[in-house]
Amino acid sequence: MTDMKYAHIVGWGSFLPDRIVTNDDIALSVDTSHEWIYTRTGISERRIAAEQETTATMAFEAAARALAVADIHPSQIELIIVATSTPEYIFPSTACRVQDYLGARRAGAFDLSAACSGFVYALSMASQAIATGSVRNAVVIGTETMSRIVDWQDRATCILFGDGAGAVVLKGSSIPGGMMASSLRSDGSGGDLLSLPAVYHNPVPTLGPEYLYTNGDKNKTISMAGRQVFRFATSVISDLIEDVLEKADLTIDDVSLIVPHQANSRIIESSAKKLGVSSDLFYMNLERTGNTSAASIPIALCDAVAEGRLEPDDNVVFVGFGGGLTWAGSVVKWAVTPPEISMVDREWKRARYMFTRGRSRLRKLSRRWGASLAGSPVPEARLKDADSKKQ
Ligand code: UT7
Repeated sequence: MTDMKYAHIVGWGSFLPDRIVTNDDIALSVDTSHEWIYTRTGISERRIAAEQETTATMAFEAAARALAVADIHPSQIELIIVATSTPEYIFPSTACRVQDYLGARRAGAFDLSAACSGFVYALSMASQAIATGSVRNAVVIGTETMSRIVDWQDRATCILFGDGAGAVVLKGSSIPGGMMASSLRSDGSGGDLLSLPAVYHNPVPTLGPEYLYTNGDKNKTISMAGRQVFRFATSVISDLIEDVLEKADLTIDDVSLIVPHQANSRIIESSAKKLGVSSDLFYMNLERTGNTSAASIPIALCDAVAEGRLEPDDNVVFVGFGGGLTWAGSVVKWAVTPPEISMVDREWKRARYMFTRGRSRLRKLSRRWGASLAGSPVPEARLKDADSKKQ
């Protein structure tokens, strides 16, 4: 154990692609309507990644913003955990790609798979690594390009999802607070209710808008028993929140804000009713983002902070649920107010990342030259395409 065992959230950042796809846009290609989607889900529009945007590039943008808020240089980061179900590659992990983009040269990095609960699972893992003294700080990211794994001809699922990324920086402190408790749950018997086959489904360079509206391969897309997943979610959320609050020795009256996974406003409203609280206690932004799976909670957290919904010492609850089946909750004592970041500071940080990117490219080149001088075969660099498109 260490003195610095309290894992505080000291930075947060999110990234959403520019392209907005409205319910009316979707109604042009499948038999649905804005009215049906909005009344059944609360979603009006979602963001869809551009061709050059990937799960890793969005994760990098969110992490860089979170590090800027935390005022921590990437070289100080000791752990990067990326929660995602839409990596470009099984390996290298998305976390390793983010490590490279950031130039976080002292960080361990790995991906975590727990579908829409992934961010809360990752937060729990990272805070435990801090509590044991194994690392002093960590970046936890939720990031998804759901648009590349939904069947855009299946109206039951394609209306729900969106792309984006959110990140937080956790830092060990001797001041009590930060992550106070977490509860992780799973039930693999319900795995077939929400699933995505492990196929090479999300290659970086080839997917464009035409793919979005013409694919329909059930072996490469998400399938969901919507009504049953809805029932599962509404049956576990309130119990989970009560459980995690009990662990933290708190009650629902001590909670200032609940940031749930943004799947469906009716799920959130039903959970509020079960807990006997106003649905205003739950933060919702899915009207503008859709369901961004593992990214939804950190994106919503960033929006909540921007709207002034969190004050120092507030207790905030995160609750995720989804494929696996998995569900997870955590309670965090919010400790910080957002610092003012000057334009000069922001530009200086941007320049540092450009420098890091250049250094990473030089390292790759020198590895290749070294290998060819030694006469070793060099594997075709598939990753290069994505890297150059990212610029
Ligand atoms: O993040 C992972 C967790 N995922 C979730 O939490 C999703 C949970 N499930 C849901 O949010 C809801 O089940 C949905 C929004 C997916 C569906 O809403 P629902 O109220 O459960 O609708 P339903 O599946 O029971 O379908 C009702 C009717 C059906 O027609 P019939 O059989 O009653 O004639 C569907 O065919 O609505 C029809 N329908 C649609 N109609 C217009 C299904 N999708 C659509 C659509 N537009 N997009």
